[in-house]
Order: sequence, then structure tokens, then C-alpha cells
Amino acid sequence: MFSYTSGMASPTELLPQKERERRLEEAGHNVFNLASEDVFVDLLTDSGTGTMSDAQWAALMEADEAYAGSESFKALKSAISEVMGFDRVVPTHQGRGAENVLYGCLIEDGDVVPNNTHFDTTRAHVAENGGDPVDFPVEGADDPDSEEAFRGNLDSKKVRELAADVGAERIPAVILTITNNSVAGQPVSMGNIEETRELADELDATFVIDACRFAENAFFVREREDGYADRSTAEIAREQLSHADAIVMSGKKDGLVNAGGFVGVRDPELFERTKQRAILYEGFSTYGGMAGRDMAAMAVGLREAVTEEYLGARIGQVRSLGERLRQEGVPIYTPVGGHAVYVEAGRALSHIPDEEFPGQALVCELYREGAVRGVELGSFAFPDTDRPELVRLALPRRTYHDEHLAHVAETAAAVVDRSEEVRGLEIVSEPENEALRHFSAELRPV
Ligand code: F0G
Repeated sequence: MFSYTSGMASPTELLPQKERERRLEEAGHNVFNLASEDVFVDLLTDSGTGTMSDAQWAALMEADEAYAGSESFKALKSAISEVMGFDRVVPTHQGRGAENVLYGCLIEDGDVVPNNTHFDTTRAHVAENGGDPVDFPVEGADDPDSEEAFRGNLDSKKVRELAADVGAERIPAVILTITNNSVAGQPVSMGNIEETRELADELDATFVIDACRFAENAFFVREREDGYADRSTAEIAREQLSHADAIVMSGKKDGLVNAGGFVGVRDPELFERTKQRAILYEGFSTYGGMAGRDMAAMAVGLREAVTEEYLGARIGQVRSLGERLRQEGVPIYTPVGGHAVYVEAGRALSHIPDEEFPGQALVCELYREGAVRGVELGSFAFPDTDRPELVRLALPRRTYHDEHLAHVAETAAAVVDRSEEVRGLEIVSEPENEALRHFSAELRPV
């Protein structure tokens, strides 16, 4: 068991209904525009919003700060080597910084980059560097009722077809995102990781793992894949990454910290290039935008993240939220993945057509009903794709209690009970870059 005793508590207040309605109106029906103090249970993201352990706080207090060669960097480097098996490490300010550094070194104009599914910042960085990001999730990935154990997997057959079509020389890298955030946080099997290794060798491409949630993925491999039940999650976590040529990491997820990230590579020449690019965009190659104390806390967090005690509590809590929602009759993507429960807004609000953003309507109702903040990951966030209309309820790590989960389930149930009353939305104003519209567009009820 993990007891969440950081020795601190902060009061939270549930605003009265009238007040919530006013704030939602002022926010232009976009919950990114709400102040966090207006939110009662904040499930917007699991990124950088978790609670650090006493051991992490102790490391943070003792950490040294130096521009070059700090003890804190040494501690981080040794934790990454031990937990993830990479000795060549370039620190960055967060995951997307790592993406910029690595993909800027690997990708050129005209390249095509396959991924099980690109997360939005990954897609943007691949495109920014002239590449065409292509998603190849396995068949059934968007079936919310499939019992398939590893729906996060990459469809390697489709990648081979792509290579035959465009030529392997145009594919500089193959990326696997574990777990697959854009496919409801579903895990990737060790078998699929091994297959991707072979595929990358065949194509002479760099095999990159986006390792943000590598520890959570290891939990599922241990639980579901033949031959892993007797292995520790720490061993499995390391084995997964042993197949990769490079990793990009957001420490804000399975690093159990509030800021930070890094790139890990094996090839010495690529290491030199990533270091040079990092100096330009992130900071000198022994801090990369992090304070020494951030690195010291992440060194401890990485070791905690791969333990069975932590992972059992973590995934157990996400499942418990899923189970509560299911019992209340709220349609969700099952089995539940690693970091979040994904609600099927298309089913919950089936009378709202996709053009009127059923997911965003549900997000607004969850706030109006119970000051719960989730995020839409459907036609509002991803224009011009045919993704299912999902709302993600992501759980911050080591932060909420059972009572919070009960509140979320009751809130969602109340919305589903009066679903007929819920109206769709239309966009009133949006930024020039449509791909980023869900962060700042404003909407109104139709
Ligand atoms: N890769 C994946 C799979 C992610 O989920 C994220 C972030 C990143 C890269 C970028 O990392 O935020 O540290 O720059 N995901 C967050 C989310 C933002 O809410 O899912 P970052």
C-alpha cells in the first residue's frame, strides 16, 4: 500500500450551481479557460499534476544547483540508467522539449513517420520537422467494447505496406507510444515491442519509444501477457525499453514529478547531435531547462514508479473510477487503460451530432453538474479525423481519494440521467491553427 501523506492538505470548495454556470459562460464553454480554484475534481490531465512522495521532497531539499555537471543531474542519470537502461541522456524541460530535440535530429522534409498513434505534441513535432505523421493502431483499437488485451499495439503489417509504397528510405523512425494515450491509454504488449524492433531493423529506421507511461504499460504486460506473471514490474519496465534505440520521456507522467523530461539514446553520434540541439532549445546538456531540484525529485520518482506497490494502487484507482462509472450506467471504453477513464460521449449524448461536439457538451455538463473537469478528445480536439467522440477523465497520481471518485461517478450519472436536455455546441471563435483549437476556442450552445 501507498499512503498519501505528504503532510499537506488544501481545502477545495464546490462552487454553487449558479456560480458554476457563470464561470462556464465566462470561459466560453471551454474548460481550459477555467481557473483551477473553480474546479472541484480536476481530471483534465495526469501530466504534472500528481503528488510527490516524502522521499522526493527530501531529495528536492538536498539537491544542488549548478549550470554544468550538478550532483542532481548525476542522480537523475543514474536512475535512468538503472530503471530504463539508457546511459546517454539529454534532459529537457518536459516531454515535448524531448520530442523537439530528438525529432529535429532524426526527421527531414519528405519523411514519413509511423506510430501506433501520435499524441498531439508528437504529431506537431514530426510535422514541424517536415515529416508526415501516420497512425497505425491495431484493428479494433477504436472498438470501446473489445476485450482484446493490448489494443495499444502498432499494426506492423500496415507499416510494411507503407514502406513498400513510399520506400523504406523515407521512414527514418518508427515510434511506439506506451501506453497509447490517443487509444484510451491502452497498453502495448512486449510481443508488439519485439515485433517493432524487427520492423525497424528491416527498414533501417530508428526505433523510438515514447516512454511517458512506460511503468503503467509494464503493469499490464505483467498482468496480461504470457510469461510475465512472475517477473517484477521493474524488470518488465526495463525490458520493454531495452529493445529501443531511443526514448522520449515526459517526467510529468511516470517520472512522478511536476516538471521535466529527457531524451535517451544509444548511438554516440546521435547523442552528440541531440546534445547540441538541446543546448539551443532547452539548456545546457546537464540540466535542459530543469532546476537541479527537479532532476533530483525525478530520480527518486522513476524508481518509485516501477514498483508493484505504487502501480497496483495507481492502476487500481483508475479501474475503480471506471467500475463506479459503469455501475452508474455511464458508457465507457473498456477494459479501462492506464491513466484515465474514457467516456463515450457519442453514446452518452447520442442525440447530438458530431458537428455539435457531443464530447465537449459532456465536458461542459460535468462541470455544470459537479465542477468536475475532464477533456474532450473527439471532433473538437481533432478536427478532420474520424476519431470516436471520447471524453478523458485522467487521474492525477497519488492525489485523490475514494470520495472524489464517488463524486465524479455521481456527477456523470446525473448528466447521463438528464442527457436529453443537453444541447450541442458551436464554435464562436477559434485560433488560426485549427490543430490546437481545443485549448483556446470559445463556444456557445446551439
Ligand atoms: N507523449 C505523450 C504520449 C503524452 O501523453 C504527452 C503529454 C507528451 C508526449 C508530451 O509531454 O506534456 O511533458 O510536454 N500528455 C499530456 C496529456 C499533456 O494530458 O496527455 P509534455
